Amino acid sequence: MKNSTLYMKLSIFLMFISGIFQMSYFDISWEYFRMIQAIHILSSIFVSVLILIPYVNKHTYKYMVIRKVNSTSGVFLGSILFLIIISGTYLFLVGNRGGDEIGIAAFNIHLYGSFILLASLFWHIKEKAPNVAVALFILVFIQTPSYSEEIKLHNIQIKEGFKRYHNQDWTNSARCKSCHEDIFNQWADSNHRHMAGTNPYYMVLENLAAEDMGQEFRLWCMGCHNPSAVTTDKTRTAHAMDGNNMPAIVFESGSKDLIDELKVHGNSRLEEGVSCIACHRIIDAKSKGNSSYTLDLTSREKYVFEDNTHGVKAWLGEKFINSNPKVHKDSYMKDIYKDSSYCASCHDEFLPDSKRAVVSTFKEWEKSPFNNPKDKSKHKTCIDCHMTKLQDGKLTPLKGTSTDGGAIKKDVKVHYFSGSNHFLSGLKSKEHEDQTIQLLKTAAELDVDIRDNKILVGVKNVGAGHHLPTGVSDFRELWLEVTLYDKGSNIVFRSGKLKEDGNLGPDAKVFMKVFGDKDLKPVGLFFWRYEKMISDTRIPSGERRVESFDISDLKDVKLSKVVVKLNFRIYPQWVTDIVKNAYPQLTNPPVIELEKVTKEL
Ligand code: HEC
Ligand code: HEC
Ligand code: HEC
Ligand code: HEC
Ligand code: HEC
Repeated sequence: MKNSTLYMKLSIFLMFISGIFQMSYFDISWEYFRMIQAIHILSSIFVSVLILIPYVNKHTYKYMVIRKVNSTSGVFLGSILFLIIISGTYLFLVGNRGGDEIGIAAFNIHLYGSFILLASLFWHIKEKAPNVAVALFILVFIQTPSYSEEIKLHNIQIKEGFKRYHNQDWTNSARCKSCHEDIFNQWADSNHRHMAGTNPYYMVLENLAAEDMGQEFRLWCMGCHNPSAVTTDKTRTAHAMDGNNMPAIVFESGSKDLIDELKVHGNSRLEEGVSCIACHRIIDAKSKGNSSYTLDLTSREKYVFEDNTHGVKAWLGEKFINSNPKVHKDSYMKDIYKDSSYCASCHDEFLPDSKRAVVSTFKEWEKSPFNNPKDKSKHKTCIDCHMTKLQDGKLTPLKGTSTDGGAIKKDVKVHYFSGSNHFLSGLKSKEHEDQTIQLLKTAAELDVDIRDNKILVGVKNVGAGHHLPTGVSDFRELWLEVTLYDKGSNIVFRSGKLKEDGNLGPDAKVFMKVFGDKDLKPVGLFFWRYEKMISDTRIPSGERRVESFDISDLKDVKLSKVVVKLNFRIYPQWVTDIVKNAYPQLTNPPVIELEKVTKEL
């Protein structure tokens, strides 16, 4: 009898441990996770049938029927055990596939019940509500700060009553490569692909936000940066950079990692970022910002074998699509994809509690001269500028096919998603770097004059359909570098030259916004602490700004020429320095000269 009690306790404890390690909190790598899961399920069935149920039967009979012992803790323990076994059986036979409430309930009963089971086991053995039991209860129910219903961290809607998706629902983007090779390659090195675990700046900031605001706050960031993780109930961005190892992915072109993963794991692994189906299965987008889009991954019509990733079935599945792609096209192409409001759900960002706007690219575009639906020749959407190829410094529609072997189109929508971050995509692909720098150079025009002892520099935002710069313009650096020479070619005045440490000095005229806290102190990296705007010197679309530089103390100097440059740097040096502490392999982003004018005097 002694021995069987010991086996029983030991097996409950092992089932508990192998179950608990599957919680996302522990973030166990997939290799181990799948082993632990298999061990947990198979050994639980084995242990329950062979040890647990026979033991409980005998034990109950002996104490309750023969000795007539009346044990509250015993009855409680027995009921919990019953619930755990029933919910476990349901999870095994039917599962928790997201589509039925019972599955979700079974999962929660199984998870939380196991803590209660362990606690009541201690209670039952010791019969005096020992501390261990209390400690376990506290462990389950006290968690990081919880956000109330009104403070919604993300607004992603999932179609048709599903609470969450499974990894398999998130078709790997490399699945699309076999027929849309060019588009896949454009997207593969774009900032829409590398925006979570493989963007070192993002990882440093997501971790900082979690330390500052509580772990749950990550969900705010992830709604836009990592939709697949949020919709499969992951609570943080997994990344290969733990332990300060910068993965090869940061420098590797063509998303080779995704292609390899599809070969080895099929669709079982999630990919980060805005994947093909993250965009092409958005069925509704409210231009409200903070990830206010509706995703429907599951209710589309699928061809036979479409989801197979290997072998003859996968091959046949592709033949079925190609032979009659109408249903395929209908499920991946919607009318809203032509609208700027489609991009607004992620490109307008506000703080979840105070609703203060952090990024307002869409709202800026709405007020810009490019939002002109009455005059089609002037109307330009996000897609017109960010999904059109650039050639010789101009947006030049690309003639070609969107599908290998497909119809020739006059304006294939390219998927480089060039914006301003030439640096991170440029580490992987020169073509992306070149596309982005070409786009950046279409943004502004520069003019210069010297009058009334002042250098007057005009900067006009001619090419951006929103403020210049837009987006995370609290981190971007766009500034004027002005150099004035005398007749002997000596520099007599200078502004905007980088200091020795790589940072800009206080004299530089920078176009950016600076967020402050309630006492108007700059918030620095902590942009979620923003309460008051300290300054906003960005240039709205279509407007011209004049900056003046005082040279009244040079009245008697014979001047020869002034050279003005409009410079851009994707991150200030001090930000890169912080990120390099975590990822020393990172290089410094270069300064890009967007415009230059010289005036002889
Ligand atoms: C087996 C080949 C194949 C695969 C794999 C495939 N597609 Fe397609 N796709 C096609 C064909 C064929 C067309 C029709 C092309 C045409 O009409 O020019 C098409 C059309 C499309 C269109 C509409 C294009 C248009 O011109 O309106 C979209 C969007 C699209 N596919 C997205 C995807 C996505 C996303 C994936 C991956 C999840 C994918 N496709 C995988 C073959 C494929
Ligand atoms: C950020 C959202 C987004 C992502 C990510 C995205 N697409 Fe698109 N895709 C669009 C939009 C918007 C259009 C253009 C719609 C229009 O104007 O007709 C488009 C157009 C297309 C077309 C038709 C192109 C044409 O000009 O006929 C295909 C095919 C396509 N996408 C496939 C893909 C594949 C494959 C991936 C992943 C490798 C992908 N898309 C990733 C938003 C996206
Ligand atoms: C008329 C062309 C045009 C239109 C329309 C346009 N953009 Fe841009 N966009 C640009 C140019 C040029 C740049 C580079 C200069 C800059 O950073 O503002 C840019 C930059 C960006 C950036 C990078 C900002 C940064 O500095 O980090 C994002 C993000 C962006 N655009 C998103 C959008 C979205 C979303 C829309 C639609 C609501 C849109 N754009 C409409 C031309 C356009
Ligand atoms: C699911 C959310 C989501 C949607 C939808 C989305 N984006 Fe983005 N986009 C992002 C995020 C997040 C980034 C920042 C990625 C990074 O740089 O790490 C980004 C980056 C970009 C950039 C590059 C900015 C830079 O600094 O270079 C451009 C350009 C862009 N998006 C345009 C678009 C356009 C155009 C659309 C609509 C067709 C769109 N996006 C739809 C989330 C989204
Ligand atoms: C509403 C959607 C949204 C939310 C929420 C959001 N972001 Fe972003 N984020 C974006 C978009 C869009 C861009 C691209 C804008 C640009 O390039 O200027 C971006 C850009 C960034 C960048 C710059 C990427 C690069 O290298 O170019 C970082 C870093 C970043 N976000 C971190 C975060 C963190 C950390 C959080 C949460 C505390 C967060 N974001 C919340 C949409 C969002």
